[in-house]
Amino acid sequence: MSSTARSAPPVGPGLLPLLARLRDRDGDVFTVPGAGLHVADPALAKAVLANAGGDFAEHSDFFATATGFLAPRQAQQRIAREARDLLAAYTAAHAADLPRLVGTHLAPGAAMPDAANRLLHEHLGPALLGPATAPAVRAVVAEVVTHAVLAGARQRRGRLRRALLRHRAYAALAAETTRRRADPAHDPADLLDVVALALPDGYDPADAVDVFLSLLFATVGSTGFLLSWTLYLVGRHPDQAGAPPAALVREALRLWPVAWLFGRPVARAHDLGPVRVEPGQTVHVCAYLAHRHPGHWPEPDGFRPDRWRDGPHGAFLPFGFGAHACTGAAVATGLAADVVALVLASYDVAVLDDGGQPQVGPALAPPPHRVRLTPRSGERR
Ligand code: HEM
Repeated sequence: MSSTARSAPPVGPGLLPLLARLRDRDGDVFTVPGAGLHVADPALAKAVLANAGGDFAEHSDFFATATGFLAPRQAQQRIAREARDLLAAYTAAHAADLPRLVGTHLAPGAAMPDAANRLLHEHLGPALLGPATAPAVRAVVAEVVTHAVLAGARQRRGRLRRALLRHRAYAALAAETTRRRADPAHDPADLLDVVALALPDGYDPADAVDVFLSLLFATVGSTGFLLSWTLYLVGRHPDQAGAPPAALVREALRLWPVAWLFGRPVARAHDLGPVRVEPGQTVHVCAYLAHRHPGHWPEPDGFRPDRWRDGPHGAFLPFGFGAHACTGAAVATGLAADVVALVLASYDVAVLDDGGQPQVGPALAPPPHRVRLTPRSGERR
């Protein structure tokens, strides 16, 4: 998802209730004034994303660059696969670090969701940029986390300062990419290598940076928001804290899909459910509404981790669907579930200073709040 975080227009907290009202009034394919067609029906959403008939332009925000999309598709697929494998191996090898990170970033209390993003950054930092990386490059990426990845970070900084940071980050990462490609024979040691070594000759260095930043947003941003949403919901529903951590994570992703809106440009005129669409239009698949569709989910707005007892659900698309579906899904959910399991094994979770409203931007982040982790005395059910 991640680069969605850089390309879509900013939106406010009133948008989600507005979308739900329009869906209730106009049905599963509806128009948002000024923002185009939206799809709320899960089956139709999957058909759009699967794009079997080629009705939509080939598209994934993840590989979006300033000038279009990273090409060719084989390079995208290689990056998607190798990034997944590198992260899976890295998280398996470093799982023993997680208890310390919970102690450093979350206990006994923390400002969320930022603390979850910081935890992920410390944990996965060496997988993003390994020890051989110049310290100046690591430092500028840390600045990007602070000023662009954290929820609401962009609104806290002026346009000029953001543009200057962007310029420095692109220059440092592009130079580092060139350095990595000087020895194309080595196996990727970190995610920047994964990108650098998969690029075709004659690539645009800015494209390499765009894709690396997508990986940064996915690992530190999206996965951090997922962890934070899960702890937030457990804190608000302490009676559910005994549910399996994987079910808690899934239910958090259902109610609050971090990647909640996917745009697909129409390539050919066709009927989308009851609506005729034409080239030039963009159709927005709304995972948020699909995940709360009353025809597919009993008690759609309730936090009910037990609904996952019977396994996967066909109306669940937090990681997209089809050829462009997220390759990091298992790593992201596994990591969030591991941290949640560690927290719940030792602490009761409470939510304080609840900001109340989700932070709705291109990614869906929890309201600003604090978590309080109190050591538990007895065994959990
Ligand atoms: C909670 C965390 C994450 C969420 C919610 C998420 C969500 C998504 C979504 C919705 C898509 C499809 C976008 C589209 O169809 O336009 C996607 C694509 C992708 N994601 Fe993730 N993602 C997450 C974490 C990760 C991680 C950790 C990785 C690292 C490997 C990753 C790698 C990718 C890649 C490479 C694609 C593009 C696949 C393709 O186009 O072939 N994601 N992600």
